[in-house]
Amino acid sequence: GKDGYRHYMEKELHEHPVAIGQTLQRITDPASKRIALPDMPFDIAKVPRITITACGSAFYAGMVGRYWLESLARIPVEIDVASELRYRDPPQPDRGVALLISQSGETADTLGVLRSLKKAGQSIVSVLNVEHSTMGRESDLVLGMVAGPEISVASTKAFTAQLSVLAAFSIDFARARGKIDQAKEEALTSSLLDLPSRAAEVFACTPAIQAMAAVVAEARDVLYLGRGICTPIAYEGALKLKEISYIHAEAYAAGELKHGPISLIDRTVPVVAIVPSNILFEKTLSNLQEAKARGGRVLAFTDAAGAERLKGVAEHVVVLPDVDAFVVPILYAIPVQMLAYEVALLKGTDVDQPRNLAKSVTVE
Ligand code: F6R
Repeated sequence: GKDGYRHYMEKELHEHPVAIGQTLQRITDPASKRIALPDMPFDIAKVPRITITACGSAFYAGMVGRYWLESLARIPVEIDVASELRYRDPPQPDRGVALLISQSGETADTLGVLRSLKKAGQSIVSVLNVEHSTMGRESDLVLGMVAGPEISVASTKAFTAQLSVLAAFSIDFARARGKIDQAKEEALTSSLLDLPSRAAEVFACTPAIQAMAAVVAEARDVLYLGRGICTPIAYEGALKLKEISYIHAEAYAAGELKHGPISLIDRTVPVVAIVPSNILFEKTLSNLQEAKARGGRVLAFTDAAGAERLKGVAEHVVVLPDVDAFVVPILYAIPVQMLAYEVALLKGTDVDQPRNLAKSVTVE
């Protein structure tokens, strides 16, 4: 049942901290603050490239995974949505690894890529919530996300659980390839283990998210902006808004704004920015100032230091707990999904069963 929540989506949003915590329990050793993933069915040091693929929200999780794998483990990553990768036929290296991400383990396009990459000699690692699924049976290794059943059609807690697995996988690769020392592994793992508590604090932001939702609910079109590791979180926010509120949303890497989409901006097109105070803060801030100068209404997800700097630029700010830069995308995914939920409530749409959508897409 819904345990007293109005919708499965609301319940599942509140299960983010537990989904992250249970997932990490399986793949970390809290005492030593080390990653404790199962042994990989290949020699990590000899992997020349990882190919990541998935659909929808799972694909956005994969985009964050690419940032971590490239920056921490210094390994080349190829990434594409499954429906494209299937028909692209890119060359596959010897000893290559394919990383597939799926909540259901049944998505037809992702399964199709699994089979063709297996034929091309790639080792298959799947990040799945439903481990006893078709993809689970056909993989060389399954990394379970332990999010519990997800009933709401729009994915919520599976997304942060996917990211938790991908973060651990990236640390594991970085260590095995000699790119980080033990102290760094412990620091990164600690920042992950700290997440369930920080994630629980996000629900205190509900009134601020509702204030933002009131602006978004009036709009016909919404622009989501992020940079770097937060760009996929902007994509996730826009997808979730489209899915459940039927408001048109576009997500862009903020630096692309001036190369086209800025022509859309006026008072009727709110700009939702994912803007933690990290190394790209100043860059994103100047993109937001450009939007504001064209009459845009800026709504920002940031932290306390970011909120100070956004005074006079952002009309509404959601101030999130301070966390290590490594885990920022995991934390920021939660309020971005909550915003879509609050907007859907205001629009009165069918939150758990949005029109035209199925939970598991088993046709191409
Ligand atoms: C978004 C959503 C979809 C799924 C996508 C992949 O809220 O639910 O975009 O993420 O259909 O599904 P899985 O993860 O089951 O392969």
